[in-house]
Amino acid sequence: MRAATPAGRGPIRLCFVCLGNICRSPAAMAVMAAHVAEAGLTGCIEVDSAGTGSWHLGDVPDRRTRAEAARRGIPLDHYGKQFASGDFARYDLVLAMDRANQSDLRALAPDSTARAKIRLLRSFDPAADGALEIPDPYYGGPDDFAEVFDLVDAACRGLLDALRRDCRE
Ligand code: 4NP
Repeated sequence: MRAATPAGRGPIRLCFVCLGNICRSPAAMAVMAAHVAEAGLTGCIEVDSAGTGSWHLGDVPDRRTRAEAARRGIPLDHYGKQFASGDFARYDLVLAMDRANQSDLRALAPDSTARAKIRLLRSFDPAADGALEIPDPYYGGPDDFAEVFDLVDAACRGLLDALRRDCRE
């Protein structure tokens, strides 16, 4: 898993990426942070998030994302930022929410090393099938936000299982 950094050196750095960086990717970042903390792995796995778009730079997450996080007791502290080509060097894995995000990230990747860091988040959910996407809830309602958290939760559990071994090396 840690092809991008020498084994055992420094934390594993994750960046969750969606379009606006106010709904799905801050949710994924917060859910993963909660799982990492619960597993006692905060020193091993660092989380961040960004969007491919620039509309919400500096914005707090969407109020519906904040409401669902609060309902689940998940701390959420983030200000919107845009993923840039140079950011690939700062992360070991760049986790796209949907195929459009994945395609936009591939277009931004400066080389094959950067491209190899891009994954669909749901590819880590062993129960996932179909398009492996986290659907964009922006034009939806509270149920769509709850579904985002459910899908992200299942994928983050799988991601943590995949990374756990590297933390012990
Ligand atoms: P996100 O959702 O990509 O999950 O943060 C969106 C947020 C904002 C917009 C689109 C999607 N927007 O068009 O502003």
